[in-house]
Amino acid sequence: MKCKVCKKTAVVSLPSHNAGFCRDCFLKFFTRQVERAIHGEKLFTHEDRILVALSGGKDSLALMLELSRQGYDVTGLHIDLAIPGSSAAARRVVERFCAKHELPLIIKDMQAEGLPIPKVKKRLKRPVCSACGKIKRYFFNKIAMENQFTVLATGHNLDDEIARLFSNVLRWDIAYLSDQSPNLPDEHGFGRKVRPLFRLSEFETANYAFLMDIDYHYAPCPYSQGASFSAHKQLWEELEAAMPGRKLDFYLGFLERGRPLFAKHEEVSGARLAPCARCGYPTSAGICGVCRIRDAVAELDEPVQPICSMEPL
Ligand code: AMP
Ligand code: FES
Ligand code: ZN
Repeated sequence: MKCKVCKKTAVVSLPSHNAGFCRDCFLKFFTRQVERAIHGEKLFTHEDRILVALSGGKDSLALMLELSRQGYDVTGLHIDLAIPGSSAAARRVVERFCAKHELPLIIKDMQAEGLPIPKVKKRLKRPVCSACGKIKRYFFNKIAMENQFTVLATGHNLDDEIARLFSNVLRWDIAYLSDQSPNLPDEHGFGRKVRPLFRLSEFETANYAFLMDIDYHYAPCPYSQGASFSAHKQLWEELEAAMPGRKLDFYLGFLERGRPLFAKHEEVSGARLAPCARCGYPTSAGICGVCRIRDAVAELDEPVQPICSMEPL
């Protein structure tokens, strides 16, 4: 196969774009897709200070490298979850990546914070993933606010966005549908959150990571239980193979035509937010959910009942 642009031998074939690309033209294609996402959705400008959440996976590292190549002001943030057999390796990958590319990095260590995920897990009756997600979001917001970052960027790709959109559609979850966007504006004291890779599939970010020699962490979280999202992703792979380009069409169609309809239904949150009495984080509950998890974890050595519900953060 020949490169669609320069006719050299192609190294990446993208049926969804009806094209094959050589290395250089694929990298230009990737850059162009990120630029179109940033400008099309007005995600940020070169004036913004961008905090990029780095898990150690290919998507967030590819995002960080691409934004820095485009001249944006980026700083990485890695949350070390202290999960045995996984977190130390992910952290090493992020540290090596940022050192290699001379990019600034903030590490937040959950062991030092009194919130190691295995201990949080012990205190919960239900799967730990949603509490872990809340803890991560808490530190994304808190660190962004405390350090005057104007935007928080995550590495969610087109497949992540499709899986989430599809799941929300299957349940006709109007509240979630009204809240799904690659650009969530700042509100209630939380900073703006953006997903600049929403036009690129997992296959495309994997190719970018390979061609840019990004060494990434790919072990799945030992606590994840093959969420229904994975089944949805599988379904979409089959659909995409039969009808190349369907994923991007579906998502862009939602942004253009579906989102405005659901936005009308956006609920105005009745809960008044005020700073957490302990940590200052916006909450409707006096003491925020993460401070309460922290207390529960600190009590672990005492014979106490597991907590089974938490205030949303
Ligand atoms: P996931 O939900 O694991 O697919 O991650 C989605 C995005 O969240 C990643 O692309 C990262 O931007 C961010 N993220 C996930 N885990 C971490 C972490 N431990 N530290 C920093 N960012 C993370
Ligand atoms: Fe948080 Fe798996 S990454 S529980
Ligand atoms: Zn708090």
